[in-house]
Amino acid sequence: MNIIGPDALLFGVDDVAACAQYLTDYGLRPVDVDSRGGRFEALDGTGIVIAHKDDPALPPGMGTASMLRKTVYGVADEGTLDAIAAELGRDRDVRRLPDGSIESIDDMGFVLGFQVSVRRPLDLPAEAINAPGAPAGRPANVVGVDEEALALPRTLSHVVYFVPDTAKAEAFYKRLGFFCTDRLLGAGPFLRPAGNADHHALFVIQTPPFMKGCEHFAFHMGGPTEVMQAGTRFVNKGYQSFWGPGRHKMGSNWFWYFNSPLGCHVEYDADMDIHDDAWTARAIPMDADASQLFLFEQRDKWAPGGPPPGAGGAGERH
Ligand SMILES: [Fe+2]
Repeated sequence: MNIIGPDALLFGVDDVAACAQYLTDYGLRPVDVDSRGGRFEALDGTGIVIAHKDDPALPPGMGTASMLRKTVYGVADEGTLDAIAAELGRDRDVRRLPDGSIESIDDMGFVLGFQVSVRRPLDLPAEAINAPGAPAGRPANVVGVDEEALALPRTLSHVVYFVPDTAKAEAFYKRLGFFCTDRLLGAGPFLRPAGNADHHALFVIQTPPFMKGCEHFAFHMGGPTEVMQAGTRFVNKGYQSFWGPGRHKMGSNWFWYFNSPLGCHVEYDADMDIHDDAWTARAIPMDADASQLFLFEQRDKWAPGGPPPGAGGAGERH
């Protein structure tokens, strides 16, 4: 089945205005947005849709703190939609919506949509670098740093779920043609759909049932510099870094995660590995450093020189 990847994630949120500001500051473009919510798009038309949690048009929540209400996958064509409807129709309800998409539910209770993808083809350069021994990535007199560079999210890369049973979740997505590219033992499998070479469009992590929901989503940037530039701007706007910047081991993508008012973390990433059917999945035990090749430690900004004399005792830091 030629599923390409997530076209959109739909959230039912507490504070529509805060989420709208957050997604705009993150770099997504508001489309048809008003006080009730709306759509926030990356450069290729993928994006995040928000509405108030009590909006009756939303699919129901999962009974946890997660605000994710629906994951909408883009597929190659109508034939793929028909194939998905036939497969899922074997053991669950599949609805055709007025917009031509189909809606169903996975084995964990995540509402899924499938539509002919809205992704617009991108024609943008990757970040270019110069390295001794290699042809120049940038011609003479082309500088690498542009303080005014836009650094906008290009496409919705992946979503990560907390699920109570990763084996069951993986079995369900394999019915839809997803491959396991790597496995973080003790956490879960990285999954990519057949129509996308990216290392993962979905990662599921084993957690207790009360945590079920969206852990984070990520948009691809044009390169590591864009991750740093967009992330630095985000920090300077007052948003809180959660993890990063750094570079993942599995997938090799650069990352920077932020807290958000959407009830999940939000990531900038860049330069993810791509794979084909010749790839053999790796399996690596989960530990504190299993997910990062390196991680930039952020210096304590509250009191970088330590506390003032007499404030809380010698050597004590807050
Ligand atoms: Fe991620």
